[in-house]
Amino acid sequence: MGFNVNSLSDKVLMSNNVGIPCLGFGTYKIDDDQQVYDMVITALEVGYRHIDTAAFYMNEAGVGRAINDFIATTKIAREDIFVTSKVWKTERGYDKTIKAFEKTMDEIGLDYIDLFLVHWPASLTFDDDWKEINRDTWRGMMDIYKSGKAKAIGVSNFLSHHLDTIIDMEIQPMVDQIEISPGFRQQDTVDYCNEHGIIVEAWSPLGRGRSLNHPLILELAEKYKKDSAQIIIRWDLQNGIIPLPKSINKGRVVSNADVFDFEISKEDMTKLNAMERYGDSGHHPDEAW
Ligand SMILES: NC(=O)c1ccc[n+]([C@@H]2O[C@H](COP(=O)([O-])OP(=O)(O)OC[C@H]3O[C@@H](n4cnc5c(N)ncnc54)[C@H](OP(=O)(O)O)[C@@H]3O)[C@@H](O)[C@H]2O)c1
Repeated sequence: MGFNVNSLSDKVLMSNNVGIPCLGFGTYKIDDDQQVYDMVITALEVGYRHIDTAAFYMNEAGVGRAINDFIATTKIAREDIFVTSKVWKTERGYDKTIKAFEKTMDEIGLDYIDLFLVHWPASLTFDDDWKEINRDTWRGMMDIYKSGKAKAIGVSNFLSHHLDTIIDMEIQPMVDQIEISPGFRQQDTVDYCNEHGIIVEAWSPLGRGRSLNHPLILELAEKYKKDSAQIIIRWDLQNGIIPLPKSINKGRVVSNADVFDFEISKEDMTKLNAMERYGDSGHHPDEAW
């Protein structure tokens, strides 16, 4: 089911009834402090209300500073901005997860964050006790949620079999952020999330640029008088997925958000949904350490 949304600030509800803005701004690889500050300010000025960072991106401080300054200089309230961070692979397990969250909070300089994610699952390839590690990490996540300092918790790069390791626990993840682009739909995991009321977010929605030149995307861009990135971002929204496009180019930050004035037809959605594998990173959660 697609989202019924009309602007960047429109929210969809997570399973705990907290709203999450339907389109986010990605910040991976924007690791220069001043640049990430400038780009987050730009995104907020354009109207984005959802910023995605992670401890691994080494830019939480700049992201938090931009949010605090934007709030101080506008009438926008903290509650109207949604920020996500993530605990990195090296910090799995209960104690390390709690400590990693405290470090994130020190870096980001906000009273709370809106969403905290487990960045990558422990997987069978690297750890015999991968299931127990995921459960221990998730115990930490549940306590972080109960502290009120993260308004929602979730996972990233968890496929169905990773989700299975924690799905019976007291609190279920509210979000799963996975790689999704038209040539890499990960439909099994999306179906699993839909069945369990878990919101799906798309990382590398543009295939880091690789997806933009696929002939079908180019054809639809021409047909709808939009650019390739807009076709893909709109495709995510119509599939009920939150895309997180990243750009350090102001014109693209603007154009990537200009996706609320057209609709991809059912027939063209079917074509996009049937695209062959194309443009993904190749980072399988059970293979990438
Ligand atoms: N959870 C995870 O494991 C994970 C992994 C990867 C990413 N993420 C998150 O997802 C976000 C997005 O993923 P991503 O940054 O890997 O890739 P992406 O958003 O798919 O693509 C970003 C690339 O596309 C270019 N681009 C952006 N808009 C464009 C446009 N309209 N036309 C042409 N090129 C355009 C950007 O270049 P310019 O910057 O030069 O415009 C950049 O090189 C990340 O920033 C991060 O927040 C999460």
